[in-house]
Amino acid sequence: MMEFNRVQFLQNKTILVTGATGFLAKVFVEKILRVQPNVRKLYLVVRASDNEAAMKRLRAEVFEKDLFKVLRENIGEENLNTLLSEKVVPVAGDISTDNFGVKDSNLRERMQKEIDIVVNVAATTNFDERYDIGLGINTFGALNVLNFAKKCVKAQLLLHVSTAYVCGEKSGLLSERPFAMEEIRNDDGHQLDINFEMELMKRKLKELHEQDCSDEDITLSMKELGMERAKLYGWPNTYVFTKSMGEMLIGNHRESLPLVIIRPTMITSTHSEPFPGWIEGLRTVDSVIVAYGKGVLKCFLVDVNSVCDMIPVDMVANAMITATATHAGGSGVHMVYHVGSSHQNPVTFGEIHEISVRYFTKNPLRSRSGSPIAVSKVRLISNMALFSLYMTLRFRLPLQLLKLIDIIYPWRSGDKYGDKNRKINMVMRLVELYEPYVLFKGIFEDRNTKSLCASQKEDETKNSKGSMFDFDPKGINWGDYLTSVHIPGLITHVLKK
Ligand SMILES: NC(=O)c1ccc[n+]([C@@H]2O[C@H](COP(=O)([O-])OP(=O)(O)OC[C@H]3O[C@@H](n4cnc5c(N)ncnc54)[C@H](OP(=O)(O)O)[C@@H]3O)[C@@H](O)[C@H]2O)c1
Repeated sequence: MMEFNRVQFLQNKTILVTGATGFLAKVFVEKILRVQPNVRKLYLVVRASDNEAAMKRLRAEVFEKDLFKVLRENIGEENLNTLLSEKVVPVAGDISTDNFGVKDSNLRERMQKEIDIVVNVAATTNFDERYDIGLGINTFGALNVLNFAKKCVKAQLLLHVSTAYVCGEKSGLLSERPFAMEEIRNDDGHQLDINFEMELMKRKLKELHEQDCSDEDITLSMKELGMERAKLYGWPNTYVFTKSMGEMLIGNHRESLPLVIIRPTMITSTHSEPFPGWIEGLRTVDSVIVAYGKGVLKCFLVDVNSVCDMIPVDMVANAMITATATHAGGSGVHMVYHVGSSHQNPVTFGEIHEISVRYFTKNPLRSRSGSPIAVSKVRLISNMALFSLYMTLRFRLPLQLLKLIDIIYPWRSGDKYGDKNRKINMVMRLVELYEPYVLFKGIFEDRNTKSLCASQKEDETKNSKGSMFDFDPKGINWGDYLTSVHIPGLITHVLKK
């Protein structure tokens, strides 16, 4: 691997980033601006009505966040504003359309003349997303980004962020290599055909419109279709299925453009930069930790011996920058990096449970009235059938169920006094969606990432720069991280206590 100084690499580079209002991309953008203010330009593609509205979104949802407080303190408010106005170019765009739907041909041409690196972070991350939306963003959206990158005359690399869970529900050591589309077959031996999937979805959508179905019914049918097609080809949900197809499409159509695919596992709060514990939103394991702290989680479907593969968001951003600097301009590059912890520094769900019990026993959350919320050990059940039975017997009081839904599935909480069975069904559907992950038996091979990390460390030693782009999961002490960084981070930045 070529050796580079990552900071120098970023100097004078023009980088396009999609998904900049999201959790991971804003950490990536902050890091670049903090360590290399002499980056030439950052084109940030944001869904908005026009570029001005895109900038408004970026200010409110990215630059004014606590995440930027270190940079703000380092250089001062005025200099930060100057830096942003000189370096950041907001682009109102949508990756599900050709050329991001950018109509202004001057802007488009400028972008295609200037851009060196394209970083696709945008995605829909709903597990049971509508099939049309999942295909539009995660599959064909990724292809649109690749096609745009190919039109950028100086483009040296497309860095595409996927997810480690594109592996589906396989167990054992999961290889860190690109998909071979020919290998994907359903039980009848039919090879996956992505264009057919698009056609099928369009046909179904047309039928639903012709039948004058309500929006709600269309959404439901599109969600069901996504899950059905995912399961047919061996994936547990629409999110990972559409992300997998996105990887396959860009792998097949990349031609000579170097392509790096970063597959993070479950992304958690910052480990150290710009400061420890910054996080946004409640995802996967965090919803469970918070529900537990709030005293509403009494029982949970999980295998205590399964490894919960988490990786702090700043480490993912560091891996992205290092991989970019390493592979930009390389010929024939089609690299995959698993960015996670399960192979080198595993932590089990059982251990996380123990740590959470100790944390909330010592530092209880407070109820609205200010009294400490008592927590006790959760009943952990590692079998879906038993869990189902437990739920039916346990949740006789609708109020407890409602509270649970409000916390772990807030966008679904709906009317507070709805019918109890519907609520039980919703919880069960949620548990079914999470089942593949809480009973997961895979370990992500990370040989590529390990060697990237080693070359990164060697480079930093030579340049005596200290650890500026650390992404070595071995350096994480899970007990310390969860107790002193991650759970306090969730409480401060997500629960805003
Ligand atoms: N978070 C995790 O634990 C995790 C784990 C593994 C992999 N990943 C991957 O990491 C990436 C970032 O995840 P995240 O957690 O940061 O997600 P996130 O917070 O949900 O952000 C997603 C971003 O994508 C944007 N986006 C969605 N559809 C778009 C479209 N059609 N056009 C343009 N932008 C669009 C969203 O814009 P709006 O603000 O307009 O919605 C948002 O900025 C994703 O590719 C995801 O698959 C995440």
